[in-house]
Amino acid sequence: MLDCLIRGVNLPDGRKNVDIAIQDGRIAEVASNIQGEAAQEIDAAGFLATPPFVDSHFHMDATLTYGNPRVNESGTLLEGIALWGELKPHLTVESIKERARKLCRWAIAKGTLGIRSHVDISDERLLAVQALLEIREEFKEYIDLQLVAFPQDGYLRHEGSRANMERALDMGVDVVGGIPHFERTMEEGARSVKLLCELAEKRGLLVDMHCDESDDPLSRHVETLTYHTKRLGLQGRVTGSHLTSMHSMDNYYVSKLMPLMKEAGLHAVANPLINITLQGRHDTYPKRRGMTRVKELMAMGINVSFGHDCVMDPWYSFGSHDMLEVAHMGLHVAQMTGVAEMKRMFDAVTVNGAKTLGLKDYGLAPGCYGDVVILQAKDVHEALRLRPVRLYVIRRGKIISRTMPTVAKITLKDAAFDVDFRM
Ligand code: FE2
Repeated sequence: MLDCLIRGVNLPDGRKNVDIAIQDGRIAEVASNIQGEAAQEIDAAGFLATPPFVDSHFHMDATLTYGNPRVNESGTLLEGIALWGELKPHLTVESIKERARKLCRWAIAKGTLGIRSHVDISDERLLAVQALLEIREEFKEYIDLQLVAFPQDGYLRHEGSRANMERALDMGVDVVGGIPHFERTMEEGARSVKLLCELAEKRGLLVDMHCDESDDPLSRHVETLTYHTKRLGLQGRVTGSHLTSMHSMDNYYVSKLMPLMKEAGLHAVANPLINITLQGRHDTYPKRRGMTRVKELMAMGINVSFGHDCVMDPWYSFGSHDMLEVAHMGLHVAQMTGVAEMKRMFDAVTVNGAKTLGLKDYGLAPGCYGDVVILQAKDVHEALRLRPVRLYVIRRGKIISRTMPTVAKITLKDAAFDVDFRM
C-alpha cells in the first residue's frame, strides 16, 4: 500500500492532470491514473502541485521582534542595524527559540520547507547560534534549516568576530558568512573575503556572504569573491547574497563581471522585498530600485534564487514568510512578466533555491523526497498572481499542514456567487 496518492494535479512544467504516488517517504511514480491503494488519498483535481518553497536567505534570530524595544521610525537599513544593536543585550536563548518556532510554523503553513538562515555571531555569548542550532534539530523532521555564521558587525572590523566564527562553526553552523562592504576599507573587505573563503575551504564548508548590499557602484567585493572561489576550487559552493551594488554598476564593468561569476559557479541571491525598500534611500529622483540584475544573471546561466530576508524585524515591518510574495515582488521589480520569465520567478523560490542550498533529492521526479505543496491555483501564473493558500503541505509523504480553500460568498439582489479570484 502506498503512503500517499495525490490525484489530478497540474505541475509547474505544464503537465496537467497527473497523479503523484509516495512510498516510504519518496516519490514512487508521477503519471496519469496510477492504480493502487494508499493510506492517504488526496483529490486535488485541477490544482497546482510544486516541490516545497525554499527561502535562500533569512535572519531567523531577528525575526518577529517588531516593536521590540521600538519600531524602526525611518525604515532605513542603518536605523535597523542600530535597533538590532539595542535589542541584542536583551536576547535570551529561550526568547530567540520562541520566535523562531513561531516563524517555522508560519513557514510550514506556507509550504516553505527549506530555509537558509544567517545567524549573527557578533555577540560573544553566541546565544543566537545556540538557539538556532536547537531549532534546526527540533524541526529537522519538517524543515531543512541551514545556518550561516554571519558577522553582522564585520569580520575584521569587530574585535572578536574571528574567534566567534571559529566557535560557531565548531558548534555546528553549516555555512561561512561575511559582510565585506561593512568592513572599514575596501582593502579590509577584500581581505575578509579571502580569509573567509580560505576558512571554508579548510573546513570543507559552503560560503554565503552578504556581498555589496549597497548602492555604491564601486562596491565590487563580488569580484573578489569570484576570484577566491576559483582560486580555492570552491566552484558551486559559494553564494553572493544581495549584490545590490550591481544595480548601480557601470554596464561595461558588469559585462566583465558576470562571466567571472558564471565561471566561478557562484549562486546569486536577491531579496526583492528588502532590496526595493532599503536601497536607493539616498536618491532623490530618479530613485534606484536597488535589486541586483536578476534577468541578466539568469540569462547568463547563473543560478539566481530569492530570499525573504526579513519578517517583522528591525529592518522590515511586514511579511508572513510567504515565498510567493517574494516572487511576486521580484517579477515586478525585475520586470520579468513574460511567460517564460514568470516561470523563472517561480523557480527562484523553488528549484533554484534548492540548488543554492545544495538540497539533495529535491523535486517531483520519482526517487525524490515525498515533499509536495498543493496550491489553490491551477498553474504557476495563477499562483504568482493570487499568492493563494497552501491547501496541503506534505513532508516525506505525510500531510503536515492543511488550509481550507478561501472562497468569498457574495449576495447580490437575488443571486449568490462564490468568488475565489480564479479564472
Ligand atoms: Fe540579510
